[in-house]
Amino acid sequence: MDRDSLKKIISHSKEYGFIFPSSEIYEGLNAIYDYAHNGTLLKNNIREYWWKSMVQLNDNIVGIDSAIFMHPKTWVASGHVDAFNDPLIDNKDSKKRYRADVLIEEHIEKLNLKIQKEINKAEKRFKEKFNKKQFTQTSPRVREILSSIEDIKSKMVSAFENDNLVLVKNLIDELEIKCPISGTCNWTEVRQFNLMFKTKLGASEDSSMDLYLRPETAQGIFLNYLNVQKTSRMKIPFGIAQTGKAFRNEIVARQFIFRMREFEQMEMQFFIQPGSQGEWFEMWKKKRLDWHLNIGINDSSFRYHDHDKLAHYADAACDIEFLFPFGFKELEGIHSRTDFDLKSHEKLSGKKIQYFDPVLEKNYTPFVVETSIGLDRMFLAILTNSFKIETLDDGSTRNVMSITKQLAPNKLAFLPLLKKDGLPEYTKKLMKEFKHEIKIDYDEKDAIGRRYRRHDAIGTPYCITIDHQTLEDETFTIRDRDSMEQKRIKVDQLKKILEDQLKLKSLLKNLNN
Ligand code: GAP
Repeated sequence: MDRDSLKKIISHSKEYGFIFPSSEIYEGLNAIYDYAHNGTLLKNNIREYWWKSMVQLNDNIVGIDSAIFMHPKTWVASGHVDAFNDPLIDNKDSKKRYRADVLIEEHIEKLNLKIQKEINKAEKRFKEKFNKKQFTQTSPRVREILSSIEDIKSKMVSAFENDNLVLVKNLIDELEIKCPISGTCNWTEVRQFNLMFKTKLGASEDSSMDLYLRPETAQGIFLNYLNVQKTSRMKIPFGIAQTGKAFRNEIVARQFIFRMREFEQMEMQFFIQPGSQGEWFEMWKKKRLDWHLNIGINDSSFRYHDHDKLAHYADAACDIEFLFPFGFKELEGIHSRTDFDLKSHEKLSGKKIQYFDPVLEKNYTPFVVETSIGLDRMFLAILTNSFKIETLDDGSTRNVMSITKQLAPNKLAFLPLLKKDGLPEYTKKLMKEFKHEIKIDYDEKDAIGRRYRRHDAIGTPYCITIDHQTLEDETFTIRDRDSMEQKRIKVDQLKKILEDQLKLKSLLKNLNN
């Protein structure tokens, strides 16, 4: 896997209805994406796999669905108002303030415009003989600009990823980026700016209240801790799980759906006795990696990354990293968050947030081990792992998505060989035996080979072809997406495949709970 394969995944995702760039007719919106039909089905299946593995398989984990808006004091207590920041820079002459990353991105945009000018000039010169692709690959001037764009991008990403604001300022100086107002390069140092999106609650300016779009779902769990513990009569250790949207005004928002400004998290806070966090932290690290491996991705695609530099609330933190096309990157975080959040909310709200331990016969503030995974990042991990362009024996190629069968958008595709002779009617009758159990698809357009390719490309595990022999002996052809092998079976055999390989329960059963 390399960066080139990310480009292929992005275009495949659009062509086959997984992911569309948001607001595309208005030139799109940076780092915001929409899920199309197949993408929504896959995303729902991943969420269901996570949700059931948490709240269905564990007697001591309950679920909630808290609101996106929370009282603004939430984010003061959690530390997000003070410490959830991005880099800002001021021009000393114009006194105007800019985002350092945006200044660099605009500089890159100017370089792209220079490339466009070169292209326009060449197009005029060569007229109908002009080949844009060939020109951009061979023109020394265009190649020089492209290479400097690559260089700037890699310096910028590395500076931000290493949180090195001095390098960001150095890059702005090196590129001689000028303030559009004063026209000078007289810049301050780069400072941090808050990543939370602000909005207002209320109609009039005077009475309205500043609100934030939540940057993590976890705080909704902390704020509901007392209500959930009482109503569900949970005893420590117990967990609260939720999935939902989170919003961050990210600086380095790129690499497709890896880092977005609106994304979905699946988080679980596990409330425990103070002092037992080391043990539970190790247990959840293992349990979460097992959850990933259970869907059949090779274990060489994952690694743990223990944090040396800890956030203000944590006494231990570890990422489960996945080998994306752009290298090993964080997929999920497991954090030992101590009693920081509950204690901060207790202090700011003035409400007692404690647990009475009937065994120890005393009150205490529970400690928390959190597991936090981005649903969109998990989606990208699955696309990365399953997308292949295979060369077949006859020299042709096929795009195939070997998505874990139980998570695939459609589990079966029913294909009448011809659109006549009663084959579509028979197929639709057969489908009725399956459509209440799993998501299936019906496809009668084009030759059978093309239909197989279409379903390979969206990851349908099995295609069922109904032909004239089916009308005589009730057998039909089942074709395997991965091996492309075909055999004739009867409906009872297909029902067994459904139970053993396609229903989510067959995946959940293998988790060691
Ligand atoms: N409650 C803890 C928390 O939010 P985090 O490491 O900031 O921790 C957890 O985020 C997970 O959320 C990450 O491991 C990643 O999968 C996902 N995530 C974070 N920022 C994201 C973004 N901008 N776009 C997509 N996913 C993101």
